[in-house]
Amino acid sequence: MNVIYDIKRGLLSQAGKLLSERLKSRRALLVCDDITASLYADVVTTSLKASGFDVASFVFPHGEANKTWSTAGSILEAAAGAKLTRSDFFISLGGGVCGDITGFAAAVYLRGVKFVQIPTTLLAAVDASVGGKTGVDLGAGKNLAGAFHQPECVLFDPDVIGTLSKEQLDEGKAEIIKHAVLAGGRLYEIASCGAILDDIEKVVALNVEIKRKYVEADPCDTGCRQLLNFGHTIGHAIEKCSNYTISHGRAVAMGMVAETKAFIKLYNEKYEILEIIKSLLEKNSIKFDIPYTARELAQAAIHDKKMADGNLNIVAPLEIGNCQLKSIPISRLEEYIAAGV
Ligand SMILES: NC(=O)c1ccc[n+]([C@@H]2O[C@H](COP(=O)([O-])OP(=O)(O)OC[C@H]3O[C@@H](n4cnc5c(N)ncnc54)[C@H](O)[C@@H]3O)[C@@H](O)[C@H]2O)c1
Ligand SMILES: [Zn+2]
Repeated sequence: MNVIYDIKRGLLSQAGKLLSERLKSRRALLVCDDITASLYADVVTTSLKASGFDVASFVFPHGEANKTWSTAGSILEAAAGAKLTRSDFFISLGGGVCGDITGFAAAVYLRGVKFVQIPTTLLAAVDASVGGKTGVDLGAGKNLAGAFHQPECVLFDPDVIGTLSKEQLDEGKAEIIKHAVLAGGRLYEIASCGAILDDIEKVVALNVEIKRKYVEADPCDTGCRQLLNFGHTIGHAIEKCSNYTISHGRAVAMGMVAETKAFIKLYNEKYEILEIIKSLLEKNSIKFDIPYTARELAQAAIHDKKMADGNLNIVAPLEIGNCQLKSIPISRLEEYIAAGV
């Protein structure tokens, strides 16, 4: 896979120089949402132009509601309007929404062009920009259409997180804590001191390394990569029940606690790991109490796309740094959720 991931303060203003070393073409389509366009498009565009790039741009309104087929179509039209060829490339400058949709458009434009990720949220830096999953939402659910398409490189400038709100930072923190539970080690030490934001360069580098290992071992998400779904089975159900008023990160935090409790009860394991995970979340000021009943959650979860084959892979956190997948029949889903909430 070998996707180069650069992490350095001030990187946005060096984007042109870096990309001129990495890519042959000097023509690109820069995609941003309206917020990242107003914050960071100027510095990136200036840098690209100074390095001889011809840059077209496309700006869409921010928010998950715009991660649609229609926005992807408009990106493709913008690329065609700018006469981008197969050797040119797309750049995503934004959060996970921008990265997913730009990557998807790049995967299908002229049957596939290169793309570069410049993540501007903590979540996009530690999660969405790694692994090559791209896509859009459909009326029936999130991320239901997409493609695997790896970026050529990822440029992360830690200075960008300075403009994120606490809520937006928490979205990233929840996934960081998930990686800390799965992998343990230095990331766990940092998270258990509540020090995630103290050395963001180090924390992002550790997260990228952790997620990459799962992706490289299982690029198509049919095996061990599913460990990255820790907290997400019940988390997705919580998001759905709340009609998406509870954000993904908050729901994943609740989901990790519920899934750990459910695993302990179903398999008669010790409660120690549950206390460790709760304290990890508390240290990082992330709440995890679930405001729904098991029945409500089970009804929402049964529609999850990951459960299509009659079995459900659950994540079993045996201890920090030692998690396994276990398969249970979907018929036990309600029992599993009830054990967790
Ligand atoms: N591809 C994957 O593997 C993967 C993994 C996890 C999540 N995702 C996807 O990522 C999306 C969520 O990502 P997100 O949380 O980054 O959402 P987002 O892209 O919507 O960004 C959140 C908000 O922050 C704003 N923003 C972005 N950067 C900013 C900055 N530096 N300062 C101030 N505001 C900024 C955006 O305009 C937006 O309003 C979801 O669609 C999810 O499905 C994908
Ligand atoms: Zn997630």
